[in-house]
Amino acid sequence: KRHLISAADLTRDDAVQILDTAEEMARVADRPIKKLPTLRGRTVVNLFFEDSTRTRISFEAAAKRLSADVINFSAKGSSVSKGESLKDTALTLEAMGADAVVIRHGASGAPYRLATSGWIDGAVVNAGDGTHEHPTQALLDAFTMRRRLVGADAGLGKDLEGRRITIVGDILHSRVARSNVHLLTTLGAHVTLVAPPTLVPVGVEAWPCEVSYSLDKVLPESDAVMMLRVQRERMNAAYFPTEREYSRRYGLDGSRMAKMPGHAIVMHPGPMVRGMEITADVADSDRCTVVEQVANGVSIRMAVLYLLLGGNESATPARTEENK
Ligand code: CP
Repeated sequence: KRHLISAADLTRDDAVQILDTAEEMARVADRPIKKLPTLRGRTVVNLFFEDSTRTRISFEAAAKRLSADVINFSAKGSSVSKGESLKDTALTLEAMGADAVVIRHGASGAPYRLATSGWIDGAVVNAGDGTHEHPTQALLDAFTMRRRLVGADAGLGKDLEGRRITIVGDILHSRVARSNVHLLTTLGAHVTLVAPPTLVPVGVEAWPCEVSYSLDKVLPESDAVMMLRVQRERMNAAYFPTEREYSRRYGLDGSRMAKMPGHAIVMHPGPMVRGMEITADVADSDRCTVVEQVANGVSIRMAVLYLLLGGNESATPARTEENK
């Protein structure tokens, strides 16, 4: 049984296969009729226990473009508010015949629990779990970097080799940062994390990346700078940085962006808080890929669903049982 739980589970070959398949899927998006019949008769359930705009909509668009039936479940307004457990929710979805369950959950490890519990038969795709991982976000980020920095026809496996990627902001609470560190280093990139000392995770020394406390120092050496939102909803109010102080030291404005090399791009997974981690002029500039990242997310999620449900059985994005 195949699942996508963590970017750390992906080998370089797995990751490149997903990126290359997404490139094929992007060509479908350029056609007048944006649909493939590949997953006709299959059912994809979007199981969202936390809020989402981009991830939920793009998984829905991806499944529909592959002709799958889509069921959208949001914990808000469901029987979860009456105390129903993840197990009983999963058993209900299984009874409806889910071939794949795309799950976002506030608890780190919830997708892994679902994949290994035996409650459901279908493939499980992690759409973000607590502060743990968001693997399809990292894949769409790598896809965007490849297209912008290298070009779509980059040599297999060599495409992000040696590229310098800087991830800035609330690393402590960021599943996007964790997944990106795993995936980008697997693809041969060098990652530097920049954050206030209070927003750096304990044990970061063991991560395959560098840590800096000076954004100004790393900007001139960056090929891509990924700005992250400060996740106040996961913080005790006592630890909120003040907006002014945070922006002054860790925000990206026009004058800071000018320190980046001419080819370098600005990324953001969204949602952005304009005026906090990124100014409006930077967010709206040609160098900012935030909207492109959303479009690329549909291609990546099409590739993931295709490979898990309808693609080549011998080529595996992730095998939970073997990797855990
Ligand atoms: N990047 C991301 O996961 O956005 P959403 O929370 O809107 O899905």
